[in-house]
Amino acid sequence: MALWSKKPPVADFSDRIQHVAFIMDGNGRWAKRRGLPRKAGHAAGAEAFRRVIAYCHSLGIRTVTVYAFSTENWSRPQDEVAGIMQLLDRFMEEELRDADSRDMRVVFLGDKAALTRAQREKAEEIEQRTRNKSYCLNIALNYGGRDEIVHACNTLLATGKTAVDAADLSAAMYTAHSPDPDLVVRTGGDYRISNFLLWQSAYAEYYFTKTLWPDLKEKEIFHALKDFCHRHRRFGGLDPEDREEKTE
Ligand code: IPE
Ligand code: IPE
Ligand code: MG
Repeated sequence: MALWSKKPPVADFSDRIQHVAFIMDGNGRWAKRRGLPRKAGHAAGAEAFRRVIAYCHSLGIRTVTVYAFSTENWSRPQDEVAGIMQLLDRFMEEELRDADSRDMRVVFLGDKAALTRAQREKAEEIEQRTRNKSYCLNIALNYGGRDEIVHACNTLLATGKTAVDAADLSAAMYTAHSPDPDLVVRTGGDYRISNFLLWQSAYAEYYFTKTLWPDLKEKEIFHALKDFCHRHRRFGGLDPEDREEKTE
C-alpha cells in the first residue's frame, strides 16, 4: 500500500507553526536533467511556487516567505535573469487581477531600487491593495540578509539614533510585519542558507531536502511540517521536564 494517497494530506498547523520560509533552489538542475534551458526550470519553479503557497494556506500557515531572487543572483547570465523577471511580471499581473478576491497580503522583501519603474510601481500597488489581508506571503526579491541588516542600520541612523537594541533592528527589517520563521525549508540538496533571513532565523528549525524545487510536492511539505512538530525547541533554555531537576 502506498504510504501516501494521491490526495495531499489535510491538517491544521495554525496553532504550531506561524511562519514557514522556503529557499526555492534547484530550478536550473531540474531543467538540465531534462535537456531544457534554465529558464524552463524557473517556469516550472513558478508553478511549484503557486502549488506550495496554496497548500500552506490550506494548512492554516499564516505567513509564508519565499526566496525568489537574491542580491547575488544578478551575476547570472542576462538571459536567465530576464527569464526570471518575465515570470515576476506575470506573477504581478495575476496578483493585481486576483488581489481583491484572495485573503493574502503580499510583501516584497528587498531593495526595490534595482527593479524597473513599472515593476516597482506594481509591487507597491500590490502591497498597498493587500495590506489588510490576514494571511501573508513575503517574496524575497533582490533580497540578501546582509544587505537587509545594513539597510536596517542605515534606516535607524537616519532617524538620529546613536544606540539600538535587537527590537529596534527587528522593527527596521523588511520583515517587521512578520514573526520570525519557525521553519526554513531548502530544496535542491545544499546545506547552506545563502544569505537568507540571517537575522530572523536565529532560532529557526531547518529542513533540507534533495528534492529539486519544481518537484516539491504537498506530501513532502506535510512531512516537513510534521517533522517540525516533533522537534524540541529550547531557545537556549531547557525542556520542561529538565527544568525541575532537584538540587540538594
Ligand atoms: C533557484 O534555482 C532559483 C533562483 C536562484 C532564482 P537555481 O536557479 O539556483 O537552480 P540550481 O541551483 O542552479 O539548480
Ligand atoms: C539561493 O539559491 C537563492 C534563491 C533560491 C533565490 P542560489 O542558487 O542562488 O544559492 P547558492 O548559489 O547555491 O548558494
Ligand atoms: Mg541554486
